Amino acid sequence: MKVNEADLIISAVKPEQYPKTGLPEIALAGRSNVGKSSFINTLVTRKNLARTSGKPGKTQTLNFYNIEERFVFVDVPGYGYAKVSKSERAAWGEMMETYFSNRENLQGVVLIIDVRHAPSKEDVQMYAYLKHFELPILVIATKADKVSKNKRPRHVKQVKETLGMEKTDDIVLFSAETGQGKEDSWKALQKFM
Ligand code: GTP
Ligand code: MG
Repeated sequence: MKVNEADLIISAVKPEQYPKTGLPEIALAGRSNVGKSSFINTLVTRKNLARTSGKPGKTQTLNFYNIEERFVFVDVPGYGYAKVSKSERAAWGEMMETYFSNRENLQGVVLIIDVRHAPSKEDVQMYAYLKHFELPILVIATKADKVSKNKRPRHVKQVKETLGMEKTDDIVLFSAETGQGKEDSWKALQKFM
């Protein structure tokens, strides 16, 4: 899909601030600094629509992006960053729970995993957590450019197995650096719209 229009609608924390769009919504979940914002930018071919950073914890709010008036990407703050206080972690948990349990527009979730390593305990928990809400999940195995070509299939298999992925969920090998997997991601996302 070629995107001409993509804009930030709002950065929200509370449900009162969620935009009333009536459009299908797709949320991005994943460890802090894994490449959630970069995934959005690659798909919509914009360098800096979603703010990215080498420092973890860049995205702190739920950022709603209108894509072509067709659907909404929701960039979600990442988990697993060690340097956050107990109260910040609790606030994050509450924001997630509120969003994932009540948001009617939500049609599916993109879970971003670093393909270089086996999914962490928190990645496995997040997959299970999202499944508990009965949400379809597209797993993006990102940073493929960092793994040699012949080792990639083995790494993808490890991600699938460690998460305990359901057969109905898709996985796409991806790189924001090279653009690998962009078209396959769009294809998989169509199922959520
Ligand atoms: P938070 O908002 O902090 O949770 O991070 P995020 O998940 O949105 O990650 P972000 O997109 O900001 O990317 C973090 C870092 O990883 C940046 O330095 C990106 O350039 C880099 N990065 C993201 N995707 C890729 C990729 O596919 N390949 C490589 N080599 N680097 C990537
Ligand atoms: Mg981000």
